[in-house]
Amino acid sequence: LKVHHRLGSYEVHFALLAEAGEHIPADTYIITDENVWRAYSEAFYASNRVIVLPAGEQSKSVATFEQCLEQLAEMGAHRGSTVTALGGGVVGDLAGFVAAAYMRGIAYIQVPTTLLAQVDSSVGGKVAIDLRAGKNLAGAFYPPSKVIICSEMLRTLDSRQMRNGLAEMWKYAFIADAALVAPLAQLADCPQPEQLSDLIKACVAIKAAIVQEDEFETTGRRAILNFGHTIGHAIEHAGMYSEWLHGEAISIGMVAEARLGEALQVTPQGTAKEVARHLGAAGLPTELPPIPMDTLLDIMMRDKKRTSDGLAFSLLTRIGECKLVNGVRNMAVSEALQSDEKY
Ligand SMILES: NC(=O)c1ccc[n+]([C@@H]2O[C@H](COP(=O)([O-])OP(=O)(O)OC[C@H]3O[C@@H](n4cnc5c(N)ncnc54)[C@H](O)[C@@H]3O)[C@@H](O)[C@H]2O)c1
Ligand SMILES: [Zn+2]
Repeated sequence: LKVHHRLGSYEVHFALLAEAGEHIPADTYIITDENVWRAYSEAFYASNRVIVLPAGEQSKSVATFEQCLEQLAEMGAHRGSTVTALGGGVVGDLAGFVAAAYMRGIAYIQVPTTLLAQVDSSVGGKVAIDLRAGKNLAGAFYPPSKVIICSEMLRTLDSRQMRNGLAEMWKYAFIADAALVAPLAQLADCPQPEQLSDLIKACVAIKAAIVQEDEFETTGRRAILNFGHTIGHAIEHAGMYSEWLHGEAISIGMVAEARLGEALQVTPQGTAKEVARHLGAAGLPTELPPIPMDTLLDIMMRDKKRTSDGLAFSLLTRIGECKLVNGVRNMAVSEALQSDEKY
């Protein structure tokens, strides 16, 4: 699978674990986290060119960014060197931004190891770190030179992290491909990697097609990927990014935004119920937590995706299709969310 971007293209390889190391130059600088390195150091050349970070979102910081740049320089990385991001979305976002900045940009390879990173963050070229003022506030569009997806690495992922990625897979089914609904519904809530590999490919193909059409998020095409995310991000934020994982928050967000779509008569009646049924069966939360509506709206209004004439939502026109709707008024959002229908 090839992804085209402004400066060329990159290949997404689906590889066996035993072969993953062959896709990576022997002299690459691996950036990874402690959990991933514990499980997979043997699959890669265990050179001394490894930066192992603490696991978790805290590593997407300015301090870690600086530390990685300094370590690359100390280890002698030069313009022709490559960085390999071996880990989940945290490592991918950080290492990608480090590669973008080091010597004005060196090549980097994404080896995503969480389901979320395999179906979402490793493809599309968005890289970032967090600032004290908020998540992903410093970053770049900087495409990788290659993405290597090895579904076998999901074997060591815990079930909560698995569901976290499943939420994004359901998102692709809802916004772009109704044919994914049946196979996704057949998975148990902690599926085996071999059951997932074809579905991962299908999801990556959808993401690749969308980001190619709108690399820099300027036309609104890429924004359709935000289904469930406007409300989902507000929930994540209100929970201080510790109460809910991203996939859990967008699961709740997808149900809520399907209800909003129904209220705005963009989404057929009954769709929200169906969305909730599928996500609930996958073990994901579907009901809004008790956060005051004003708090959620406040956070949404400060979101960087907001436009001047109101909130923008990616809304389902049916299961498997969506469109971007701009200028949604706050009142419409609070009314739709406060209706006390439960699924
Ligand atoms: N760039 C993008 O387009 C994009 C899109 C979505 C999310 N993101 C970012 O991705 C980040 C979240 O990524 P994530 O959900 O992958 O979280 P993560 O990178 O924190 O990984 C989750 C946990 O799983 C562990 N882990 C990773 N791979 C493992 C494996 N194979 N086996 C066992 N444990 C493993 C990690 O050590 C960590 O503890 C957020 O910072 C988010 O902003 C970026
Ligand atoms: Zn997401």
